[in-house]
Amino acid sequence: MKKGYFITFEGGEACGKSTQIKMLREYLSKRDNSDDFLFVREPGGTPLAEEIRKLLLNYEVDKPLPMTELLLFCASRVENVYKQILPALNNGKIVIADRFYDSTIAYQGNARGIMSSKDILSLTKKIIGGLTPNLTFYLKISPEEAFKRKSKMDEGMDRIEKEGLLFHQKVKEGYDFISNLEKDRFYILDATKSPQEIFDEIINVLKVKIPEYFTEEKSLDEKNF
Ligand code: TMP
Repeated sequence: MKKGYFITFEGGEACGKSTQIKMLREYLSKRDNSDDFLFVREPGGTPLAEEIRKLLLNYEVDKPLPMTELLLFCASRVENVYKQILPALNNGKIVIADRFYDSTIAYQGNARGIMSSKDILSLTKKIIGGLTPNLTFYLKISPEEAFKRKSKMDEGMDRIEKEGLLFHQKVKEGYDFISNLEKDRFYILDATKSPQEIFDEIINVLKVKIPEYFTEEKSLDEKNF
């Protein structure tokens, strides 16, 4: 049986993460083995965790305290990991998550500053039994560039996206911290490149990392990293 493999996508606001995940989902859905791949998102992923997502991102009545916010992200993750991610990995699936604990380190650790990034890392690992992604695509962009992009976007922003430039500068520092600390699993993508260029790079990396899931195709440009 194929071994499970856990891939996460990370990045600050307007980094193009959603576009890449959409392109990947479409690309994989056309393959014969599309059932081998499971897409999940955080916060959310299960019915209860989706309710927690609504509270976290859209609840405007009573703004959560930073510690409440941290614990709600953790609660959503516990639901998602034990009910969805681990069972899929144990069944040999490739799980592709739109955000995981690196987001908590960047947003609640570094940007909100309620706990050190190291403490957040140890808390989040403890509650999910040490589950660590095998591979993390980090779409790196400067907050200044992201803010320029955001001003051209017309879709509604969630509570956390609405934070100012300083907050998002700290988010980027948080990502720099974790991508340095756990660098073996990180593949950093230049988010200023075109969506197609970034996507081609992602596919090439996947063909190298999980070749058994791409047996009928050869990589166009096999890269080692
Ligand atoms: P999304 O827009 O990529 O779906 O992410 C939802 C928002 O939640 C985004 O502003 C980042 C934030 N977030 C955190 O602050 N901490 C976390 O642990 C996660 C998973 C997301």
